[in-house]
Amino acid sequence: MKRNIAVIFGGRSAEHDVSIITAHTPIIQSLLATGMFDVWPIYIAKDGSWYSDQVMNDISYFKQENFEANLSKQKKVQILFDKGLKIIWPGIRSRIVQIDMAFPAMHGTFGEDGSLMGLLRMADIPFVGCDLFASAVAMDKVLTKQIISTENISIVPYVWFTKKDWGNKKDILKEKISKLKWPVFVKPVHLGSSIAITKVKENSALENAIEVALHYDDKVLVEESIENLIEVTLPIIGNDELQLAAIERPLNKTDFFDFNDKYLSGGKKSGGANSQYSEIPANIDQKLAEQIEELGKRTYHALGCSGIARVDFLIEGTTKHVYVNEVNTLPGSLYHHNWKKIGVSGVDLVKKLVDLADERFESNKNITYTFHSEILKKAGGKKISE
Ligand SMILES: Nc1ncnc2c1ncn2[C@@H]1O[C@H](COP(=O)(O)OP(=O)(O)O)[C@@H](O)[C@H]1O
Ligand SMILES: [Mg+2]
Repeated sequence: MKRNIAVIFGGRSAEHDVSIITAHTPIIQSLLATGMFDVWPIYIAKDGSWYSDQVMNDISYFKQENFEANLSKQKKVQILFDKGLKIIWPGIRSRIVQIDMAFPAMHGTFGEDGSLMGLLRMADIPFVGCDLFASAVAMDKVLTKQIISTENISIVPYVWFTKKDWGNKKDILKEKISKLKWPVFVKPVHLGSSIAITKVKENSALENAIEVALHYDDKVLVEESIENLIEVTLPIIGNDELQLAAIERPLNKTDFFDFNDKYLSGGKKSGGANSQYSEIPANIDQKLAEQIEELGKRTYHALGCSGIARVDFLIEGTTKHVYVNEVNTLPGSLYHHNWKKIGVSGVDLVKKLVDLADERFESNKNITYTFHSEILKKAGGKKISE
């Protein structure tokens, strides 16, 4: 019998549209091609409404000119968290489907940040990709740095603060920032896609860049800029035993890799990732490549990643010093273009990810979550009966 798998995408995040691409190319396409699953697309609209209709298995549904009008004709679904996860289409002829596995395909807030994983954990069903904890930590650039640096993984020197800190002790923070090696990068801590990131070359531009970042996030970091930058990324899959894809080097033209470079400049064929703008495998020497692979695995492990993730690195071009920049727990389109290069097709990839999800779910079953105690009986207060 085919398993019911729900691919969950869209969502209330700046990366809503990118998520639609990831969900379809390659996830839904590949899951259907396995012939092993009934695929239930669950689309969360920008306003947070949940929909599910088989027509949404085709990306063209989301490209229609009258998309909003058509969507408004769709019935919203309800989700039941009763011994697993069920999709309900309410109405006179209501329908229920029991979901066996979830495949989160949501980037950014409420999806990649662990929120969705929390919901799926509560429902007690297996789901693909990183669990709640790794997702939440990886979504926070400062927490990521704090955790991996305790494992002796090199990170770029930085200063971090909240909106409140900036209001209360601006001078102390400016003093700290002035001690970093300039130029510096100012970044909101929880966003992706280079949104609100500024490279600051002069002191006079610092406050404005921080205000911009604070407009999008209440936690901000300022870090040294790595000059003569070689930027590489390493997609990884696995729970305990890890499989590495090729080290990939994005060849960006602008001062830094921004939203347009990532998603738009590749044109239609790119399917969301800038495949034409990357060098795969990166043309770097063997020793450096080995170092990156080793750091990638240690970072994945330190954050407690499982299923899939991508570790991004910044390399100083002259000294060849390697810094881990960030971890992405849902690489755009699963970075399937890269997996393909090492012989893992889209179908192989989703099958592996589903197996890894089952494996983690089974091993979590061995953890005891309940504990029998007499504490309630002994607690004070009036007894209702007797
Ligand atoms: N410290 C740095 N030195 C040099 N370039 C940087 C630095 N930090 C970020 N960048 C550039 O800015 C891009 C976006 O920053 P990143 O930290 O990856 O944020 P995002 O989450 O938006 O991807 C990077 O891909 C890189 O090109
Ligand atoms: Mg990045």
